[in-house]
Amino acid sequence: MDSVAEHNQRMWDRLAAAGIPYTRPQGTPPNDARAKRRFLDELTFGRIKDIALRGMRVLSLAGGGGWDPILFAELGAETTLFDLSPKQLATVRALAKERGTKLRVVQGDMRDLSRFKRSEFDLVYHHHSLVFVPDAARVIKEVARVLAAGGMYVFSTMHPVTLRMYETWTGTGWGFKQRYFESSPVPRKSATWEFGDVRVEAPTLEYAHRFSDLVNACVRAKLVVDGLWEWSPNDEGGEPGSDDDLETYLPAYIAIRARRLPVAASTARRRAAARSRPRSAKRSR
Ligand SMILES: C[S@@+](CC[C@H](N)C(=O)[O-])C[C@H]1O[C@@H](n2cnc3c(N)ncnc32)[C@H](O)[C@@H]1O
Repeated sequence: MDSVAEHNQRMWDRLAAAGIPYTRPQGTPPNDARAKRRFLDELTFGRIKDIALRGMRVLSLAGGGGWDPILFAELGAETTLFDLSPKQLATVRALAKERGTKLRVVQGDMRDLSRFKRSEFDLVYHHHSLVFVPDAARVIKEVARVLAAGGMYVFSTMHPVTLRMYETWTGTGWGFKQRYFESSPVPRKSATWEFGDVRVEAPTLEYAHRFSDLVNACVRAKLVVDGLWEWSPNDEGGEPGSDDDLETYLPAYIAIRARRLPVAASTARRRAAARSRPRSAKRSR
């Protein structure tokens, strides 16, 4: 682990100990399978709505602290949860034990998925956390390796323009904390995470990944982008000049859906033939 991962791991353990929403499953899913599926579809913003989960191999990437991995498993997917923070993982592990839900739990940095085999997953669901690594392309490359042909990667992160504009209200308008072309962590004025009565100091290191970098990383990893979204969690706004107010003018998040193309039948036949050919025949070509 590098210093960014070490730092953000400490911060996420701290946030989990304080119990902010991203570290606690929100709401209560119904028991009925169809209603449970609707609950998951709302949680995942409808991005995987038409996918039948039964029998799918799902990686819930950086998915600690929430319902997603539990619901994937309870809806019939062979589920692996991967996250950096032991505390975030412990929350899901305890929930799984309480509900009798079976899933695999693995701790690590999303930039290194080497413990997983090539083509091990059919779906990688990755919600709001690329922002915590400087090198998003490395994650996308790793995901492409562990994704099976025909598999799908759905990920979201902070909007690269809006993230550079929080906390900059001057009284008459917003400014920028950083140029769009800079790649260092976005500077913060305040490191306080505030949700209702809960306030916790946690200066996580956050990186505002440009759209072009994310899409081109998918292209380089041979993933085909087939969906792109920009949205804010609510349109109610807040005090003029607040971050909530800014999010009514600009989106808070972006999400991308990308697929690893299925291998064409002719290519699959050629590869199978090459595998079954005697070694000497291969060498003589
Ligand atoms: C915003 S929370 C998302 C949690 C939950 N999936 C949700 O959507 O409510 C970000 C998660 O990313 C994890 N995380 C941060 N950096 C990571 C890294 N380098 N590798 C793996 N997980 C990481 C944190 O531990 C945390 O659980």
